[in-house]
This record gives sequence, C-alpha cells and structure tokens, in this order.
Amino acid sequence: MPQIPMSRQTLHTRGGVLDHVLDNVFDMALLLDGQGNILFLSKGNRRVLPNCGRLIGQPVTRLDRFSPFAQVLSSGKSVENLPLELMGHRGFTNIYPLVDHGTVIGTLSYVYFQNRSAMEEIEARFPRDRWTLDNGEYHQVSLVDRSYTFSDFIGESPLVKEMLDRCRQAAACDYPVLLIGETGTGKEIIASGIHAARHPDRFAPYVAINCTAIPENLLESELFGHEKGSFTGADQRKVGKFEQAAEGDVLLDEIGDMSLLLQGKILRALESREFERVGGSKVIPFRAGVIAATNKHLPALIEEGQFRADLYYRLAVIEVFLIPLRKRPEDIPLLIEHFSRDKTDALRFTRQAMDYLKRYPWPGNVRQLKNLVYRLSALCGGQSITGDRVLTELSAGQENYNRALGPGGALPAAGAASLSVPVPVRSLEELEREAIAAALAASGHNVTLAAKQLGIGRATLYKKLERHQL
Ligand SMILES: Nc1ncnc2c1ncn2[C@@H]1O[C@H](COP(=O)(O)OP(=O)(O)OP(=O)(O)O)[C@@H](O)[C@H]1O
Ligand SMILES: [Mg+2]
Repeated sequence: MPQIPMSRQTLHTRGGVLDHVLDNVFDMALLLDGQGNILFLSKGNRRVLPNCGRLIGQPVTRLDRFSPFAQVLSSGKSVENLPLELMGHRGFTNIYPLVDHGTVIGTLSYVYFQNRSAMEEIEARFPRDRWTLDNGEYHQVSLVDRSYTFSDFIGESPLVKEMLDRCRQAAACDYPVLLIGETGTGKEIIASGIHAARHPDRFAPYVAINCTAIPENLLESELFGHEKGSFTGADQRKVGKFEQAAEGDVLLDEIGDMSLLLQGKILRALESREFERVGGSKVIPFRAGVIAATNKHLPALIEEGQFRADLYYRLAVIEVFLIPLRKRPEDIPLLIEHFSRDKTDALRFTRQAMDYLKRYPWPGNVRQLKNLVYRLSALCGGQSITGDRVLTELSAGQENYNRALGPGGALPAAGAASLSVPVPVRSLEELEREAIAAALAASGHNVTLAAKQLGIGRATLYKKLERHQL
C-alpha cells in the first residue's frame, strides 16, 4: 500500500468512519496534514499520553522527533515496518502518504505492537537492510527498556513452574516485588514479565533503572528529576524516572549496589508515596509499582551495614528466588533449542556432551549457556558436538570468567571449579564451604583477607566458618 487516495474533505472531517477505524483497528494511529501538523490522534495515543490532545494542530515533531514523517510527505513514498520502541514496548510503525489527485495532502501512520518472541520471529524473517533508519536499531521514541512476557522465560522444570506461578501471583497485586537470583538467571525477563502481566493493555510505562550504571551523584536526579538551576549543569528541568513511570512500573535493578544515602531517599519515596524533584518543592505523587532485583545476598549486606533493613523489608513484600541453571538441568535442551532456533543448522550433541552440559555448574547461568550456544553455532554448525568439544569450550569460557573476575569475584563459588573433569552438580552449601576453604587457604588463613576475596564482611565470614565447622 504505497499511497492512500483520499479527498481533503475526508481527511479533515472528524468523527466519521475514518476516525472510527483508526480508533478501533490500530494500537495507535495518527493523521497529519500536508505541513506535518497533527490532525488526529487515535484512542491508543491518548491512553499512552493522556494530555496529547493539546498537540492537535501542532507539528508532529513535538510528539515524535524520530519517525520520518517529513520524508514521506516530501517523497510521497510510504515507509513500512519501521521498528520503534515506545514506553518499553517494541513495535513497528507504518507511514503512508495520503494523496488527493496527485497531491500529498497528509500522512496516515500507525503503530502495532508485538511481544518480544513475536518480534524476534519477525526480525529473523526480514533482512536488516529492510529497515530504513539507523541500520535497523530500534528508536527510543520514548524512554525505557524492552518488554518481555512470562512466555519469554524458557523452562518447564517443576521449580520454574513454581516460580512462574509465584510471579503471576505477584503480578496480580501491586505490592513491591524483590527478585533475587544469581547473575544470568533471567531477573530482567521476570521483571518485565510482571509488568506485562500487570498491564495487559501494553500501554503503561515500564522504566528500568540500573542502579550501578548511573554515577552516584547523578542517580538522585535520574530517579527523582531536577529543577532548572538546582545544581551546576542543570540547565533544564528534568523529569525523573519515578515520574516517567507514572502508573506503570519501575525496576530498580542491582538494588544491592545502591548507596546508603539513596537507599534512604528511595525508602522515603516508597513510604510516603510521593517525592520532590532535586531542587524543587512541588510534591509529586509516586504511583508506579516497584520491582527490585539483585544478585547480592541482601541480609548479609544488612549485617555488614551496607543495606538498610527497613528498605529491604519494604521491598521484599513478595520475594521471588530465580532458579540457578544447575538446579534445573532438565531445562538445558529446551534452552539450547530456544537459543539456536534462528540458526540455520540445528545443534546436535552427543549423549556425553549433553551429560556434561547437564552436570556443569553454570556460574553465569542462562546467560553463559546462551553465549555457549551462540559460540558453538558459529564454530560447529552442522557437526555433532562431542563431550570433549563442550569441555574445551566451557573451560575457555571459564578462563575468561576467571580472568575478568579474579578468584574472589562476584561469581558463586562454582565458578572456580576445575573443568578438566566434568563437575557434578552440588548443593550451594557445599559450594559455599569449598569457596570459603579455598579463600582461607589462599589468604594464609587471614580472615580479613579471605572475607574480602569472597566479597563478604568479616562478621558474616565468622558466622559461616562456624556453620561449616571450618
Ligand atoms: N529462562 C530464560 N529463558 C530465556 N532466556 C533467558 C532466561 N534466563 C536468562 N535468559 C537470557 O540470559 C541473559 C541474562 O538474563 P538477565 O539479563 O535477565 O539476567 P539477570 O538475572 O538480570 O542477571 P544479572 O544479575 O547479571 O543482571 C539474557 O540474554 C536473557 O535473555
Ligand atoms: Mg540484570
């Protein structure tokens, strides 16, 4: 459908069939006149941006600076399947010129959303160069992160089913949820899935905040926003993430790494359900749902005085523990199939190779398995993958982990396990005991040094020494 014939009268008549179709057939639709001014915003737009009605008659760039409306108006050529990201949801946009007797009199555009799995399938079917802007990157038309649903979390083991049930229950109420799990266990998928389940209409904002990615001195303004002139460099008012989240959800990711000062400020916002911009006095209601995620052991951080107990209890109204991959080895074939589904050659493993994969402790969890699948697909597509090959690849990966993190890095102790012999699955207790013993040996039984290497406090280490009778 490169051009849509339409008379000026139809385009400018409001309340007729055209508006009805645009309101009811598309997720979001928009009509522009020949000058690029907004004539009509469908119901879907009004749900995302309740005040957008005041943009009628204004240039479309006030609503969306990225999509190529001007290009369509000047060339008379449509743009289709342009990927974009809006309020954390991925979709496509199509823009068509409206033509009256050979003259372009405006554009009709619409956005349609898909869940992530559907999007990935669509992406795989279309070559990248089909996408006209930014080499196929998604436009961040609005802030925010990607969207997943629970069905994007792969796993059918009983432990996963139980966890997903708990997540569904958590999504059914609006209490804060704390997601706890080792690195790479899928906390971001679950957080986004809870948001999607809470807002099935797909339009509520989802704002993910990575508490470690933002420098400490900027984090407060990122979260709460600031007023113009409130500090050097604040030359414009900024709306913070809590405000952007409106009635959607915020994900406070890596919450265990946040400073005590900010923990106090977040606690206050959660308790009073309101906050102020930095340097401002206007009280802004905080209506969004809160999901927090961490791969740290918060009770241990509390013991060490690194995390506020009151914030922990406020966040942990519902706690969800993500399952380490070594606790659900039966899901490994399913995950491999999932990660290799777009690859031309299916990956084939010998029985021994699969056995090794199932017995490996996976310190990087699903993220590590995903990377391994990608690596094997690139290196051994079409061949049958042997046990030896798996061991070689895993130990190469292991060395990288060790190099990156050092022996006392943030990984669970299993990360240090030698892979020359496949490692059987062991309990966390056992792994912890081994890690402590190794740290003590490496530090010449210096408890302060060992605690540092293990990334825990001295007091915590003493307790653990007692418990493990070391
Ligand atoms: N159950 C799963 N099904 C499909 N993909 C998964 C699953 N778990 C994790 N992944 C994939 O593994 C990678 C890591 O997941 P994610 O970013 O959610 O981890 P995380 O728990 O937040 O880890 P970290 O603590 O390091 O931030 C992502 O690419 C994600 O898509
Ligand atoms: Mg994460």
